[in-house]
Amino acid sequence: MTTRILAANDRSIQECADYLKKGELVAFPTETVYGLGANALSSSAVAKIFEAKGRPRFNPLITHVLTAEEAEGFGIMNEEARKLAHNFWPGPLTMILPRRAACDLSDLVTAGLETVAIRVPAHKVARQLIKACGLPLAAPSANVSGQVSPTSAAHVSASLQDKVGFILAAGPSQAGLESTVVDMSGDRALILRPGTITAADISAVLGYEVAIDDGDHDSPKSPGQLLKHYAPGIPVRLNAVDIKKGEALLAFGSVKFMGIEGGGAAGDMPPESCMNLSPEGDLYEAASNLFAMLRALDTPVHTGIAVMNIPDVGVGNAINDRLRRAARA
Ligand code: TXA
Ligand code: MG
Repeated sequence: MTTRILAANDRSIQECADYLKKGELVAFPTETVYGLGANALSSSAVAKIFEAKGRPRFNPLITHVLTAEEAEGFGIMNEEARKLAHNFWPGPLTMILPRRAACDLSDLVTAGLETVAIRVPAHKVARQLIKACGLPLAAPSANVSGQVSPTSAAHVSASLQDKVGFILAAGPSQAGLESTVVDMSGDRALILRPGTITAADISAVLGYEVAIDDGDHDSPKSPGQLLKHYAPGIPVRLNAVDIKKGEALLAFGSVKFMGIEGGGAAGDMPPESCMNLSPEGDLYEAASNLFAMLRALDTPVHTGIAVMNIPDVGVGNAINDRLRRAARA
């Protein structure tokens, strides 16, 4: 199939909505990363997502809806889940909820689990698309399984060329990291994937300290966290205090003290080999730049990517989560 990239407007959104209603795939922008959408009620449509991404069937998908009321049609929300919905929806938060008996989502979406993952996105185009097709949309990140998530239409097309009919384009994703996934199916909230809504943000609303279980052990609660993820094609080296010959530098904050082995300073490197997530040291800015810069530095010209230390606080938790997975060979 030929992939067509359409600038998002009322007409192209309607065209993509009609395509989704026919059971086909559409890639669309959200405030986190671009998603690969399908009708979440149709197993034949959802099966196409797994096929296009090469995604293992045991890894469940997030369903995107317009309101918390719609979310309640699929999952059971307790008082705490409602508080989170009130504070963070629409926005980059996914809740894992006990699956309602009457939930009519395809079993492929939930990979046969007793829980559902639901998100209410804030991005205008994502919302217009869901509204125009009148369907809940199952949507993982719009990349081949294991690759870095796409934060632009160009990234989607580089990864899924000919595997998706339409890509709705609307500029770079603002948050730049996948949504925070919080498990609300147990007694206490538990973060399964850190994101730009931080543990502190969620703790402040719930009134107790919410822990992060990022799945870096043998029995992760989120099947996706088991997998090698977010991996560039060349080695990634974390907490670098110098630059080896041939390496690119992914900087954070000042590069004043970063030297190249054998002589030279980071400041002397060509711009295509040295990128700064945030010269000012702003973690939100760093999050929004992370995937695009990892992609840009990931060329055979470099032997690897040296990444400077990122403080492990707030959004830094989420950035370091993705970097640890990128560095895992
Ligand atoms: O920001 C995002 O969340 C993007 C945009 C497109 O919305 N989507 C996204 O989807 O990142 P995906 O499929 O790449 O990641 C979904 C994660 C996976 O780690 C999956 O295992 C987990 O959510 N997940 C889905 N359903 C789950 C469930 N019932 N229980 C535990 N984890 C679940
Ligand atoms: Mg993904």
